[in-house]
Amino acid sequence: LKTKHVLGGVGFAALMLVGCGMNDSGNVEATSMGDTSRPAERGSPLVALTEACGADGVLAARASSLVHREPYLQQLTPSSVMVGWLARKGSGAQTVEVTTPAGEVVTKADAKLDTSTRMTPDDQMWASISGLEPDTIYCYALQDGSGAMTERIGFRTAPDADTQRTINVLAFGDSGGGGSDQEALLSKMFDVPFELMIHTGDLAYDNGTLEQFESTVFATYAQLFRHILFAPASGNHDYETLNGAPFRDVFALPGDSKERWYSYDYGRIHFAVLDTEDSYTTQAAWLDADLAASKLPWKVVYMHRPPYSTGDHGSDMPLRKALAPVLEKHGVQLVIAGHDHDYERMTPQNGTYFLVTGGGGRGTRPVGKSDFTAFSAEVIHYVYLEVGIDELVVHAIDATGKEFDSEAIPRT
Ligand SMILES: [Fe+2]
Repeated sequence: LKTKHVLGGVGFAALMLVGCGMNDSGNVEATSMGDTSRPAERGSPLVALTEACGADGVLAARASSLVHREPYLQQLTPSSVMVGWLARKGSGAQTVEVTTPAGEVVTKADAKLDTSTRMTPDDQMWASISGLEPDTIYCYALQDGSGAMTERIGFRTAPDADTQRTINVLAFGDSGGGGSDQEALLSKMFDVPFELMIHTGDLAYDNGTLEQFESTVFATYAQLFRHILFAPASGNHDYETLNGAPFRDVFALPGDSKERWYSYDYGRIHFAVLDTEDSYTTQAAWLDADLAASKLPWKVVYMHRPPYSTGDHGSDMPLRKALAPVLEKHGVQLVIAGHDHDYERMTPQNGTYFLVTGGGGRGTRPVGKSDFTAFSAEVIHYVYLEVGIDELVVHAIDATGKEFDSEAIPRT
């Protein structure tokens, strides 16, 4: 179960450039450059967490037969978090113990068996932990009646809305079928100190089966998911198995839409996540009310299909039309989509910036330029956001680790 990110990504990436004719293999290095005058902060997202809590959350040997999907974080707030994992069926009562880095027990939460899951023969477990302090590093470990099932794993609670520090977010999409592009990009995710991972959909190719979620999502990103909140939008491929049942089984997303669209706060940012396989008019009305209820200064909306795109699929015009008045009315600064396997940054449209980040590892496709395009590139990449008080800086980073575009977005 233990996974490790690929080392030596640059050499690997250079090799992959030769293999562009292969199925699903993309351009790991940007060949044309946008604005790179605002370089991103560099450093591992895990260093403070692993220093605080010891080993990198690897499973104890005896747990490997009991834990079939490593622990991961959902619904992280300033005072709470949900830890999920998949346990072997009938493996018995389990607990999450939360400690300070010094080892003092803060709280214990009994795991609950999720009886709503439809896809797995194993036991989907969730432990809800509360009573924590904001922006604070804690350690957690899974336990059962025989003792520790994992070593201690570090995580940090979300900051309060009035935090003065910069908030760092990783965004990616269309992340692939476990191929070499996905691995090359993953290796570069350890270069930027993000605290939240957002995904613009199409997590599990080709059909969003449970097996594809296990291999190309959970096993691939386990080392990050143990420590850092992952908050995905669903894409069309995620819907191809029983209308998205595996997606909804494995995640615990907040809100009333049965894990289709939802919103959450992280520090000074309000995130709203849409499901572009469902009704646009329903979600535009929901988004209008959701944004009206938020007083946070930054509003970011993300989804799978793009309102603006010059890529293979192009702009989703009904989506653009449904969202435009809502985004403008509430001063949404940034909309992030995927679906087209490229990177594209638009000029502001009625005050809103739009990105396409669909180069998470499932190959690339050509992208051109439209009258709304500020910069576009056919490249495997992720987007890294540094959200300050008055400015949000977008950085686009390719699978060799090179930053090939950046843009500063003002708050108003
Ligand atoms: Fe898609």
